[in-house]
Amino acid sequence: MARNHISKQISTKSTILLLFVSVLVGGALIFDYLWSSSSSSSVVYTSIHYNWIRENNDLVTLPNFFNGTDKIADFKDENGKIPVRLLSGTFADLAAPDIEWEEMTPAPVPRLDGASIQINELFYVFSGYRNLDHVHSHVDVYNITSKKWGESFATPQEMANSHLGTACDGRYIYVVSGQKGPQCRTPPVSETFVLDTRTRNWASLPPLPEPRYAPATQIWRGRLHVMGGGKENRHTPSTDHWSIAVKNGKALEKTWRIEVPIPRGGPHRACVAVGDRLYVIGGQEGDFMPKPGSPIFKCSRRHEVVYGDVYMLDDKMKWHTLAPMPKPDSHIESSWVVVNNSIVIAGGTTEKNPVTKRMILVGELFRFDLQSKKWHVIGKLPYRVKTTQAAYWDGWLYITSGQRDKGPDNPQPRKVVADLWRTKLSL
Ligand SMILES: *[C@@H]1O[C@H](CO)[C@@H](O)[C@H](O)[C@H]1NC(C)=O
Ligand SMILES: *[C@@H]1O[C@H](CO)[C@@H](O)[C@H](O)[C@H]1NC(C)=O
Ligand SMILES: *[C@@H]1O[C@H](CO)[C@@H](O)[C@H](O)[C@H]1NC(C)=O
Repeated sequence: MARNHISKQISTKSTILLLFVSVLVGGALIFDYLWSSSSSSSVVYTSIHYNWIRENNDLVTLPNFFNGTDKIADFKDENGKIPVRLLSGTFADLAAPDIEWEEMTPAPVPRLDGASIQINELFYVFSGYRNLDHVHSHVDVYNITSKKWGESFATPQEMANSHLGTACDGRYIYVVSGQKGPQCRTPPVSETFVLDTRTRNWASLPPLPEPRYAPATQIWRGRLHVMGGGKENRHTPSTDHWSIAVKNGKALEKTWRIEVPIPRGGPHRACVAVGDRLYVIGGQEGDFMPKPGSPIFKCSRRHEVVYGDVYMLDDKMKWHTLAPMPKPDSHIESSWVVVNNSIVIAGGTTEKNPVTKRMILVGELFRFDLQSKKWHVIGKLPYRVKTTQAAYWDGWLYITSGQRDKGPDNPQPRKVVADLWRTKLSL
């Protein structure tokens, strides 16, 4: 299904000759991370409705692009330059209905790779990067009813700042492992914390058996489950799965139990519990690593494989593979809500542009119907954005923060945003 959508979108009037020559997929690609400062100015959208899909891009057809094993074209011209217009990054956008977005009061700070938890009308937004050289160590709280960002409070000193695993039981918020410090600092921490949202007190839980980056984390059937994520070097995917019994903000056991490993490893996935089922959606293998010898752990890009796999754990602790997302999607750990027996996911990152190798952000809103187990593309976001944070309250879907695209015609990551948007959701 995904492929039909994609080929429909990318088969255009373009007459450019496509030469299938050799592949660059597979090797370790090291680029300096092109990071744009979040303080740079960008377009201000005064309209509440912003249609970012352009109809008439010049595109080439690139069959089977997403399976990662294909021979792809070498588009370099005689000067060794890549003619950008050959393959617009927007080719990866899927057809999606227009929906109206309303801009609300932005969060107090921009954040990327943060985390969020919603408890009724309160939307807790955790830490994250301000930019690559600065990370937050506080929580901002938005009251959806009063439409105000109110309180802000500190996280524990030993707690990680990004790539956290988070889960909530309605009162206590559990925060597991992650990266402490800016850039691509290794190794991650294994410390685990719990916040009592009534008292704002923090406490500790037994540390994970090993530290992890951005593991899939959820409370399910009385236990805090942690699985996947990236290992100590930030890049190697883990398939390990652990759990510990928790109640009222306390661990009922002294150590983590080893559980059945997840079929595919890696960080930046949505992890959702609905009844007797636990779902782990999307993600990637590989991530940025620190540049060897860099005293500041400067981020350098490595080979990544983004995927749209969906795994479901049943109450017999058996994994099932379900229909994949309409396209590969990663950086969605806080970008989902459950509404009306559907999981709704906003934005993310998809496979890199096969020609330019640039990172491509995702701007669609996806819905996974838990009844039919089918995916639908239900709308466009105000812009493409990764690690946006989602909440749902009283008929409205809210998204805030993350790193947005360069503009409607350029899906590469640019500005880290504090923006808060909402749209009426009816499924
Ligand atoms: C990937 O694409 C190649 C080349 O078109 C094809 O031979 C192969 O069967 C595809 N693999 C999958 C898993 O679709
Ligand atoms: C959120 O704001 C509303 C309206 O001002 C207020 O009545 C409510 O108590 C607030 N909720 C919390 C949990 O503070
Ligand atoms: C939930 O589904 C029911 C039944 O299809 C529908 O009537 C209702 O409007 C839906 N609610 C939302 C918020 O989408």
